[in-house]
Amino acid sequence: MASMEGTVALVTGATGGLGKAVATGLAREGALVAVVGRSAARAEEAMADIRSLVPGALLEPLACDLSDQSSIRAAAGGFLARHDSLHVLVNAAGVFRKERHITADGLELTFATNVMAYFVLSNLLQDALKNAATAGPRTSRIVNIASRYGNTKLDFDDLQTAHGTYSYLRSTPPTMLARVLLTQEFAERLSGSGVVANAVHPGLVKNTSLLQDVGGPFRWVTNTFGAPAEKAADTPLWLATAPETASVSGKLWAKRKELPTPGMGSDPEARHRLWDACAQLTRMP
Ligand SMILES: NC(=O)c1ccc[n+]([C@@H]2O[C@H](COP(=O)([O-])OP(=O)(O)OC[C@H]3O[C@@H](n4cnc5c(N)ncnc54)[C@H](OP(=O)(O)O)[C@@H]3O)[C@@H](O)[C@H]2O)c1
Repeated sequence: MASMEGTVALVTGATGGLGKAVATGLAREGALVAVVGRSAARAEEAMADIRSLVPGALLEPLACDLSDQSSIRAAAGGFLARHDSLHVLVNAAGVFRKERHITADGLELTFATNVMAYFVLSNLLQDALKNAATAGPRTSRIVNIASRYGNTKLDFDDLQTAHGTYSYLRSTPPTMLARVLLTQEFAERLSGSGVVANAVHPGLVKNTSLLQDVGGPFRWVTNTFGAPAEKAADTPLWLATAPETASVSGKLWAKRKELPTPGMGSDPEARHRLWDACAQLTRMP
């Protein structure tokens, strides 16, 4: 892993599981890490855990409810008031919910957190990512946690699982494919700017909070056969820091190997369509 001293990273989902392990790894390499938590208290708790593993870690809390676009804008604004450069953005926050919930923005919660938050935050921070690349010797990196076990296609008429009976098996897998498609689109739009974007399939990650709401056999399988978060953090950290991943972009990775993109991942029209749908829901360009 390359030294990250003098760099700034921002990690969502840094209060639990995989995100916290990635934040810990970045702090260990010397990056200043903005630890995003749904509240300042959650972020401070995670910072204490990280400091117990990495004494002297450079950390700052960033309170943000990622299901709420006004909260994302406020958090991004607060971050940008302190930093004009961002070297690494890791989007790791996510939910897996049994029941359908509607957010303050009127969006279905799983779609809002798992897809829209990636879209909105990455857009709001893209200039800071470009600044870091322009000012320094390294490319800036966006690393999006996703999964290869998502759907192979999206239902563009029902991105928010509004039709039919809601279930986590209907709402969540499409969001994993959506993360891959958004990663590809960011990679293309940021091409030549010094910012690369890649997605990671972490495999099953055991003993995280993700499946607390659903329980049952799915949780048992994950906790029995999954990898610890520290191990699953290896590929995201490699993509975020290694010299050999400085210029790869728009790919899906697992265990430091490139994976074929699932289904619609080979259809540029699909990612353009998803981008437009997200942009419409945020009124962003
Ligand atoms: N575990 C797996 O087997 C697996 C497999 C494939 C992909 N993934 C993906 O890996 C990522 C990390 O999952 P994990 O297993 O480490 O789960 P986790 O421990 O539940 O971590 C999810 C993180 O997201 C945060 N989060 C959720 N909603 C948020 C919101 N509205 N605002 C701010 N933060 C929010 C959680 O904070 P709180 O604790 O405050 O809720 C938590 O820190 C997720 O994106 C997931 O989709 C996981």
